[in-house]
Amino acid sequence: MCGIIGIIGKREVAPLLLEGLRRLEYRGYDSAGVATLVGKGIERRRAEGRLDNLAERLEREPLSGKTGIGHTRWATHGRPTERNAHPHATDKVAIVHNGIIENFHELRDELVAKGIRFETDTDTEAVAHLLTVSLNDGATPEQAMADAMDRLRGAFSLAVVFAGQPDLMIGARRGSPLAVGYGDGEMYIGTDALALASLTRRITYLEEDDWVVLSPQGVRIFNQRQPVERPVKETALSGALIGKGNYPHFMLKEICEQPAVIGDTLQSFLNPLTRQVQLPKLPFDFATVPKITIVACGTAYLAGLVAKYWFESVARLPVEVDIASEFRYRAAPMPDGGVTIAISQSGETIDTLAALQYAKSQGQICLAIVNVLESVIARESHAVLQTLAGPEIGVASTKAFTTQLTVLAVLAIAAARARGKLTAEREAQLCAALIATPAKVTEIISQEDAIERVANAVVKARDVLFLGRGSSYPIALEGALKLKEISYIHAEGYAAGEMKHGPIALIDENVPVVVMAPLDEVFDKTASNVEQVEARGGKLVLFSNASGIKRLGGRAVASMALPETDPFTAPILYAIPAQLLAYRVAVMKGTDVDKPRNLAKAVTVE
Ligand code: F6R
Repeated sequence: MCGIIGIIGKREVAPLLLEGLRRLEYRGYDSAGVATLVGKGIERRRAEGRLDNLAERLEREPLSGKTGIGHTRWATHGRPTERNAHPHATDKVAIVHNGIIENFHELRDELVAKGIRFETDTDTEAVAHLLTVSLNDGATPEQAMADAMDRLRGAFSLAVVFAGQPDLMIGARRGSPLAVGYGDGEMYIGTDALALASLTRRITYLEEDDWVVLSPQGVRIFNQRQPVERPVKETALSGALIGKGNYPHFMLKEICEQPAVIGDTLQSFLNPLTRQVQLPKLPFDFATVPKITIVACGTAYLAGLVAKYWFESVARLPVEVDIASEFRYRAAPMPDGGVTIAISQSGETIDTLAALQYAKSQGQICLAIVNVLESVIARESHAVLQTLAGPEIGVASTKAFTTQLTVLAVLAIAAARARGKLTAEREAQLCAALIATPAKVTEIISQEDAIERVANAVVKARDVLFLGRGSSYPIALEGALKLKEISYIHAEGYAAGEMKHGPIALIDENVPVVVMAPLDEVFDKTASNVEQVEARGGKLVLFSNASGIKRLGGRAVASMALPETDPFTAPILYAIPAQLLAYRVAVMKGTDVDKPRNLAKAVTVE
């Protein structure tokens, strides 16, 4: 959500800002803009909608200047119009902002009382005026920012340029990420390393409440008005790594990367020779952990839901999984010695972060499973396990989900071993099943005709039901989530056994019912639910293995046979056709697959 880029350069900066903004598109946005310092003044170009609109605008009205800031905005306060697009400016400053200034009403009232006129509906404009008032009162830019940090409440990252001072830029962060990049006689600031990937690999990640003064010569970083040192890191990201390659969409590229990234993730957590899990040292012992609490949002929450089935059945360890935005406010009592696992691709999701902070305040040991190692959720946790998915650009999560499942699967095996619930033989079997997963995922991805048939059975529907039992229930939820977010078809996931308690009323010949039915211990129960669907003329779409399809697929309008698997790894495999189905349907419908409407990749506001 919202992306920031800033450059103090040696070159014309507007094209570089635009390119940086393109790298931030994946976060989700609905307007964009840039501002540069020109002579003693500030010039801006802003546009509603896609970056192409801003690019056209810049072509018609080019912007000169070697110092500037850019922004992709996901509207929170005020509609996504050009007027509300960032940068916001006064005669003294231009500012871009990610996050929410929670006390902006109070600041606005105070500033209006001083005779200041607001031009936008945004919270950000209050910060531009706050800084301007300080500057007009004689403060230096540094003093103005230090004072503003004391006044602002909420979660934000900011970049500010000052009229007539091309060698100066100030950035600040609280609860929202911001990175500084080092160039050759140039300095950069950006929401994340991805935004800066084509400019530099030398990055400093700012800490909570840091603010930074950039000049072409380098940076000075402050926290609570005191100078602080932060390390410079070499990032592995390069511009090439985050391209689409020959794929039409990032989502398809990321689906197809799953065999490799699941393999990479497995390799860092288990020994293929001994077939044993090998985790880094964790700050707790599973043998004595009374309970695990998992907090996450969206698809990451569904990975947590699968993990509940694994931890409880294999390790006999009680697990509570909660949606982070609910958990954070419900004052849940938490047991002594309990472990909280926060799952997040971005490591930025504000609700997951807040849930984690609550757990910490309750004395829980916190473990993060994140894709972005430098993220705030990783840094706030006592221990981190990284999913080695690589950058995920498509808004709909795919490879992050299956690598989260991979990490959670090895963690459940480790817990089971520590608690004496797993023989060496069964551990070797489970590890072998995991090791076989990448090849099976490849096999599924190659079944393009089957996916096409299944997509044809769904594409014209207005509503779709997804059913699953046991660890396939979260996969049914994930299938429905994927379909609705990128194809805009209304879809719901249900526990198969729950269907007759309500949703069965929806079934008729127009509603496809997609059933996830691996051959596991609850297959026969799922089979009964399939019969109930068919008895009511439902349009069955079946995912199972060959024998499951032989048994249940006779009347299915479409089905797809998945490879045989140990039921333990079925959720990872069955996630793949759910992703492919959503992807194909979205392509058939011509939606914007990688940037579905209204959605943002990193949800940094409540
Ligand atoms: C759905 C999707 C979202 C995210 C959710 C959490 O495809 O991508 O539901 O899973 O916003 O994001 P992270 O994992 O970054 O915390």
